[in-house]
Amino acid sequence: MPMLNILTYPDKFLGQPAKPVKNIDGTTQKIIEDMSFTMYNSKGVGLAAIQVGFDKSLILYDVSQCEEKRSLQILINPRIIESNGRIISEKEGCLSVPDLRADVKRAESILVEAFDREGKPMRIDAEGYLAIVLQHEIDHLNGILFIDHISALKRELYKRRIKKQLRK
Ligand code: NI
Repeated sequence: MPMLNILTYPDKFLGQPAKPVKNIDGTTQKIIEDMSFTMYNSKGVGLAAIQVGFDKSLILYDVSQCEEKRSLQILINPRIIESNGRIISEKEGCLSVPDLRADVKRAESILVEAFDREGKPMRIDAEGYLAIVLQHEIDHLNGILFIDHISALKRELYKRRIKKQLRK
């Protein structure tokens, strides 16, 4: 299975909203397989299709944090239909935003509607860490990165650091 290239900030593609998946065909199943391989190999907790250059509304995640008991979840066209409360997501990170961790304000609990990879509708009532991961990944589908939630100053410092690295 090929390891997909993960786009990183400031790649403009990451700022694009994803398009809805209309039919879950062979191409979709193949991208799910490749994304799963890529996510586990990059030690990521979640991955949105837009991060690998595929602008469709599709996310993968696994919050089990245990290699022996993997529990891959796939959501197609996910939508947050309810959100409640506030929590601070401590030291949030992203495979598309290398070398940065920052605290982000998130909803404490959310209700998500989506489809599974067979096209069956599903609902997820999530709170705490799972709710944070889902908000992070669904943000990607709207062209939003976690650094869009931090202060403009912190974001500017990160941008400068990345630009300096790119010049080298
Ligand atoms: Ni991310």
